[in-house]
Amino acid sequence: MIFPENFVWGAATASYQIEGAVKEDGRGQSIWDTFSHTPGNVAGDDTGDVACDHYHRYRDDVALMRELRLAAYRFSIAWPRVQPDGSGPVNPRGIAFYDRLVDELLAAGITPYVTLYHWDLPQALEERGGWADRDTAHRFADYAEAVHARLADRVTNWATLNEPWVAAYLGYGNGVHAPGRRDAASALRSAHHLLLGHGLAARRLRPGSVMLVVNSSPVLTPAQVNDPAAVPGEADAAAVDRIHALLTRQFLDPAVYGTYPEEVLAAAERNGGTGHICDGDLDTIKAPIDLIGVNYYNPCVVEAGPGLPADAAWPGSEDVRFATADAPTTAMGWPIVPDGLSRLLVRLSQDYPQVGLMVTENGAAFDDVVENGRVHDADRVAYLDGHLREVWRAVEAGADLRGYLVWSLLDNFEWAEGYRRRFGIVHVDYATQNRTLKDSALWYSDVIARNGL
Ligand code: FCB
Repeated sequence: MIFPENFVWGAATASYQIEGAVKEDGRGQSIWDTFSHTPGNVAGDDTGDVACDHYHRYRDDVALMRELRLAAYRFSIAWPRVQPDGSGPVNPRGIAFYDRLVDELLAAGITPYVTLYHWDLPQALEERGGWADRDTAHRFADYAEAVHARLADRVTNWATLNEPWVAAYLGYGNGVHAPGRRDAASALRSAHHLLLGHGLAARRLRPGSVMLVVNSSPVLTPAQVNDPAAVPGEADAAAVDRIHALLTRQFLDPAVYGTYPEEVLAAAERNGGTGHICDGDLDTIKAPIDLIGVNYYNPCVVEAGPGLPADAAWPGSEDVRFATADAPTTAMGWPIVPDGLSRLLVRLSQDYPQVGLMVTENGAAFDDVVENGRVHDADRVAYLDGHLREVWRAVEAGADLRGYLVWSLLDNFEWAEGYRRRFGIVHVDYATQNRTLKDSALWYSDVIARNGL
């Protein structure tokens, strides 16, 4: 299984999950600082205060990337380092960190992929309403433009948002993520304002290649998980279509076609109305993009659930039952269904044929142990191997797939799960900050060297 020439191999991280140094060089507070410092929100009451200390160790981390032969590194910029209060002049010491990081990457022959928003909203903006407030979209576009002005001489690959579904619905819907609000109407408004911010920012990131990164999954009935040919009955099919609209089409239809699925508008009608969707917004959101970034971990499994109320993370999901897959699971409890990835990529390439695709995250948490300086994470190797075979199948089936980035380079702060879930191909000992290449890192490096399996 050899991948196309120029297929991009890399790894991904995010600012709050690895950087630490939360008070350094004028960084402002983010909603994740506030949230993680509020007892009970994160497992073990862990915080990102130190994390992987990447802010101080980035040179060594880039050296590891080079050793692993990564061609690309996707990282995110902490908005509160650049604009401590979310607007106004750029903090020179904050942006200087990313200047140094980009230079270090380029010197190592690694192409930077910059994500502008991976969930660390400046707390000052949250206090003015956060993403539920329309103005945040404009603040985001200004911030994006300021970063572009500083880095575009060396960075060409830009992602506006990471996983707007998660930011809106876990942040403002069920409150599992920062800022921890629990209000369906705010979640729906936030989703729209995130999209608006994406559209406004996308127009200010030229010259450059622009991408929107979504958490997408094939939505399947329990029977379809193990039998792609299974045909669901009418009620189950309706549940599948509804959740697909809420998870994926809610973001990609406006971004690519300038339209909202009727399921999203109906959900808004039932939760505070559609007044926040102003004339012209959809035209703004439909800014040309070059790539859709796909973060895939597991399928979404649903069936009809007559009479069930909507789940707090899924306004509009009335009459749907979220089900479990008959499949082995990772340490997150997420089902391992590798061919979900090819099913997803093929569908996206059919539904949005004018836009290229890149797998911007894929990976798994397992309970790794270090033994004599080694980490024998055979389960992670199997997970990655299985999923890469499906990426290859999707390419063979004609999907315009440009690359694959593993989540994650390093073990890191896994949001509400804290440090107890390890996704890295590189192990981090948080007490000493020692890095140890796991077997999966060595295996991945071989895959890259061969451009295939
Ligand atoms: C994704 C996030 C990423 C990481 C993985 C496991 O939803 O984008 O930061 O936490 O899940």
